[in-house]
Amino acid sequence: MKKQGSLFDIEYTEKKTEQPPELAQEEKDKDRLEFLKSELKRHNRLYHTLDNPEISDQEYDMLYKELVSLEEKYPELVTKDSPTQKIGGEVLPFLEKAKHRQRMYGLDNVFSQAEYEDFIQKGKNYFAKENTQKELSLATMDTWWADPKLDGLAAEIIYENGELVQALTRGDGEEGEVITSAVKTIRNVPQHLGHDLPFTRIEIRGEVLMLKRDFEALNQKQILLKQKTFANPRNAAAGTLRQLDTRITAERKLIFLAYNVGQVLIPGAGDESGLTLWKTQQELMQGLSSLGFAISKESLLCHTSGDAFSFCEKMEVLRDSLPYELDGVVYKLNNRLAQQVLDFTARSPRFAIAWKFSSRKAETVLKAITVQVGRTGVLTPVAELEPVSIGGVVVSRATLHNEEELRNLDVRVGDTVLVQRAGDVIPDILSVNLDKRPVGAEEFIFPTECPVCHSKVVRCKGEVAWRCVNIDCSAQKIQGIIHFVSKAGLDISGVGEKWIEKLVEIGRVQNIADLFTVTVKELLAFEGMGDISAQKFVDSLTEAKENATLVRFISSLGIRLVGEQTAKTLAGAFENIDELAHATEDKLTLLQDIGPEVANSIKQYFASKEKQEILARLKEYGLNPQREEKIIPVDTALSGKTILFTGTLSKPRQEFEKMAEESGARLLSAVSKNLDYLVVGEKAGSKLEKAQKLGVQTLTEQEFLALLKK
Ligand code: IVH
Repeated sequence: MKKQGSLFDIEYTEKKTEQPPELAQEEKDKDRLEFLKSELKRHNRLYHTLDNPEISDQEYDMLYKELVSLEEKYPELVTKDSPTQKIGGEVLPFLEKAKHRQRMYGLDNVFSQAEYEDFIQKGKNYFAKENTQKELSLATMDTWWADPKLDGLAAEIIYENGELVQALTRGDGEEGEVITSAVKTIRNVPQHLGHDLPFTRIEIRGEVLMLKRDFEALNQKQILLKQKTFANPRNAAAGTLRQLDTRITAERKLIFLAYNVGQVLIPGAGDESGLTLWKTQQELMQGLSSLGFAISKESLLCHTSGDAFSFCEKMEVLRDSLPYELDGVVYKLNNRLAQQVLDFTARSPRFAIAWKFSSRKAETVLKAITVQVGRTGVLTPVAELEPVSIGGVVVSRATLHNEEELRNLDVRVGDTVLVQRAGDVIPDILSVNLDKRPVGAEEFIFPTECPVCHSKVVRCKGEVAWRCVNIDCSAQKIQGIIHFVSKAGLDISGVGEKWIEKLVEIGRVQNIADLFTVTVKELLAFEGMGDISAQKFVDSLTEAKENATLVRFISSLGIRLVGEQTAKTLAGAFENIDELAHATEDKLTLLQDIGPEVANSIKQYFASKEKQEILARLKEYGLNPQREEKIIPVDTALSGKTILFTGTLSKPRQEFEKMAEESGARLLSAVSKNLDYLVVGEKAGSKLEKAQKLGVQTLTEQEFLALLKK
């Protein structure tokens, strides 16, 4: 039986030379073993990373078992990178499932003020009918806790006796997938909650997210590795959580923001919601924060429906500037006892509602397709659209990414297209409405020459993009200089794009160094340029020389594959550009997140004679930022001391830790001989005992605050 594309197609090659039968068998086994290792790795990648498996799970399991038995027979051939050697056998293709002790409900949605008010009124009616708690009046129904609605994946993290024991996805609400090892790699998830806890078990609920900048970086990397990119941070977070190879999960930087609890077991307490510890949603959030969980900073207590509306409006405006994606806001009744009165319908709580932001998609007509040349020479097709308002912003252009995307969409001039705007990224086209295609609409033919300098375009092996490789192409020069002055670069606001284009067109400016030699007089020769703008142009460049930081400078150079994140890493590791320019590839790859390709691109950049000349000129003009030193106070009572906080303090522990660090102290994570001070809050437990045993000096909160003032 032959299965198409399956491993079973592969047959052993017959050996021609005579060999003793045992030896021949051994050789066959070893070949098979190597083959299995590499095939299993390939299938892991197809399954987990590319979401595109070639074989069934049963077939995978058979191969896996075969490898295990061969490795048992030849233990000397077990290598560290074998698929059988991953931590905890995490290569198994299935995620186990487990039941939630308390159901994880979804939320109902509203989309307008009227719907929101209707929801509140229904809640009040229900409350008036059902409330039997004497301590609760109808006024309780006026105070709501407002949270951003985080667009990630809901998860539940379970701690028993302070230790993280399990993490689950929401799943269908009744049963979720076990994602414990993935969640353990999330850096802002505490592994232990300490010893002096009032509860024996707690289920922390919240959202697993990928920050927008980490999502961008991940997609860049996926492109580089020629792997599937993710459509949005939510999908990327989902794919990463379900990634069974925890090394990959750890690399991809997820974060967790807590917003609720499930079961809370307190010895002797009659209820399992932690009501005795946190009477309101606001107190619960503070409690989660003191336990060491990150919570969203934007949350707010609303006392009137007016407050609620303005929160929603404010968040819709803030949306693009926040580091994570949100798709609305969530309102929860602040009083947790009243939450219990309102209870749940079959689907969702009566005490919480999601107010979704308006859609960021709209249909419009594609008027033309133009092709832009970027600073690296890449040709990008751009959709010129009939202007359309999407969520308050008028959109008239969208990116079509590359020729392949254009073909996949089969988009043609005259088509009605669905446009999406997401954050501050360039809008893109999701689909074409074929029912509205005009008769005779023609396929777009991608240019074979650069639309600006008319030299032939090339496509590098394995790349989807066409490039203009003419280094004198003015489009590339212009884009490179625009990047240098843009927000992603040195943010030189006085130098407008229009003037850069003109200066390059007349041949006055060829590169970023030339910019610094342009005079007010020269600028005034351009039609439309006034005294003030010309002076501002020159002044803002002078200012940039003085204020540029090393991070911004590195990122302004537009080195291929070096974005803001990488620039930060580099600026932390090198004193100045000269030092970076002389770093070896080996040294570069030792840095976090810098792989061989990025290192190679950095080397190539600094190896170019032309770039060396430009950098030397910039230095001569006075643009040569140095690494900033972190200022550590030296003359405080706490400078150079080590410190640790334990027990319940009057404010979240992080606030105290921040104060201590700002005052020059270093935080330790456990009590040891090296600890100078243990600051002790209420209900301090084993840490205090240990400190007393070791003779470590203890401080009360007040004593600590007094020391800060010294
Ligand atoms: S509270 C009983 N708060 O929205 C309360 N949920 O549509 C239940 N979500 O699955 C949830 N941000 O993944 C809550 N600040 C927030 C949230 C939030 C996002 C998600 C959550 C849930 C979905 C419901």
